[in-house]
Amino acid sequence: MEKQTSPCNADRRSFLNRLSLGLAGLVGAAMSLPPVAYVLSPLVGKPPRKWRDVGDLGQFPIGETKLVQFQDATSTAWAGDTAKTGAWLRRTGDEEFIAFSVNCRHLGCPVRWVNDAKLFMCPCHGGVYYSDGEVAAGPPPEALARYPVRVVDGKVEIETSPIPLTTSDIT
Ligand code: FES
Repeated sequence: MEKQTSPCNADRRSFLNRLSLGLAGLVGAAMSLPPVAYVLSPLVGKPPRKWRDVGDLGQFPIGETKLVQFQDATSTAWAGDTAKTGAWLRRTGDEEFIAFSVNCRHLGCPVRWVNDAKLFMCPCHGGVYYSDGEVAAGPPPEALARYPVRVVDGKVEIETSPIPLTTSDIT
């Protein structure tokens, strides 16, 4: 005996088919967003940059290299401590500064300024940089990145940008 399909069952099957197709379409669209965003990112524009106050001018004696901390330009409201980054800030004149990124150009580990040796040292793979940020030894492919610095009303400000690694263009 042949089984009959009631109109009610046919409607339900049709509805479930359409629901499955709709959900599959949504999942497919959601999965394709990251690659599409990656492909289009060069067209969207430069990464965000923000000026951050890192202290009073008087806190930085001429010739000294000090670690300063500030919030990354791309941080989100929920980033917490991960939004913090830093720079090695050296005062070279009345209102002249150099701000070296703390991130090694090899794989991004934070470099340390060793004042006695006048070198930046990376603890991860032995990268060494001269006091001007140029590579002295080890695997880093290029000099430490630099941030723009300005003095406004006696405050030293650094223009932040996303964490610079290799081939970054922050300088
Ligand atoms: S991350 Fe600095 S040498 Fe590798």
